[in-house]
Amino acid sequence: MPSVKTPNYKVEIDKDLAELNKYLHTQKASRIFVLVDENTKEHCLPAFHEHIDLGYELLEVTSGEENKTLASCVMLWDKLLELKCDRNSIMINLGGGVIGDMGGFVASTYMRGIRFIQMPTTLLSQVDASVGGKLGVDHKGYKNILGLFNDPALVWIHTPFLQTLPERELMSGFAEVIKHGLIQSKSLWETIKSKSTELNEEEWTKVIHNSVKIKNKIVTEDPKEGGLRKILNFGHTIGHALESYYLDTDKKLLHGEAIAKGMIVEAYLSFKTKRISIIEMEEINSLLESTYKLPTIQENEMDELLTIMAMDKKNKGGKKLFSLINGIGACDYEVEIENVLIREAMGF
Ligand SMILES: NC(=O)c1ccc[n+]([C@@H]2O[C@H](COP(=O)([O-])OP(=O)(O)OC[C@H]3O[C@@H](n4cnc5c(N)ncnc54)[C@H](O)[C@@H]3O)[C@@H](O)[C@H]2O)c1
Ligand SMILES: [Zn+2]
Repeated sequence: MPSVKTPNYKVEIDKDLAELNKYLHTQKASRIFVLVDENTKEHCLPAFHEHIDLGYELLEVTSGEENKTLASCVMLWDKLLELKCDRNSIMINLGGGVIGDMGGFVASTYMRGIRFIQMPTTLLSQVDASVGGKLGVDHKGYKNILGLFNDPALVWIHTPFLQTLPERELMSGFAEVIKHGLIQSKSLWETIKSKSTELNEEEWTKVIHNSVKIKNKIVTEDPKEGGLRKILNFGHTIGHALESYYLDTDKKLLHGEAIAKGMIVEAYLSFKTKRISIIEMEEINSLLESTYKLPTIQENEMDELLTIMAMDKKNKGGKKLFSLINGIGACDYEVEIENVLIREAMGF
């Protein structure tokens, strides 16, 4: 079974869950807490429960980004206190990115930090959110505005969890896999391009493994996003703006869908700045257009989108900065693009 080593912890992929049981025994935790939402309680907890013979306390929050808040954290901290969670306890975050980000944040701040294990159950959290140590919650409409960097004790990826994931969620996570190929691995891109999502079980595990390796390599080289880590933002300058803009409309997009559209627009920028050929741009477009149902950006939406982009955390000194692919499998970051060209790309 593949595993990926990071400087401080291991990412295990599809290891027998009996091995997780063994690992937990070696940890000699005073208590184990398992954080779930109603969906992972129904679909993922049974497999966990079947293999783990140690006792544990269940912590539950309601699913959804709107619950990734300090109020949920307060509820969880209260619960940990009430259940007499001590420093030697372990928290296991069994769920998607919401559970992982929030559970990791709660664990890292309770008693200045207890050990936690990320057990991601969505494709997005398996290939992206669970690796790299970013933890936190949303506040006052700002995404991930409160948080910290901290490493888990272990990341345990169990790909059979994906079998119950709604198709739209699966495809949303797949956009990050496509991104990983485009920014860092031509061979991953070639696999995806030829097969799209028609992968067999073995190929899925391989694609997830490669994707985790890519994310891990980048965050290991630049853990705090001083430079290189910014390449993970390919597709995200436009993507985040679209995600926020359509949030309360009937065009609401999942994160990966917004990023898929963002990658189309930003591939155009990569082409216009002579970083990729027209053939490469067309290949990217055709895969993304055929995989996702994506909106067309209307002329009258562009001003507002540019205003949202101007507030992007990644900008410096009022300039709009992009991560743009430079050939397939390589990516530049902090490329300044003028509004005129951004408009042209959005309308393309
Ligand atoms: N820390 C990071 O580096 C990082 C990176 C990317 C995204 N994120 C964060 O991740 C979050 C998004 O994560 P997500 O896409 O996993 O969303 P999510 O956690 O909201 O999960 C999506 C939905 O799927 C359900 N679900 C989860 N696993 C399931 C399963 N196996 N079967 C059936 N249903 C299941 C959940 O209950 C939820 O309703 C965002 O908050 C984002 O900010 C963090
Ligand atoms: Zn993303």
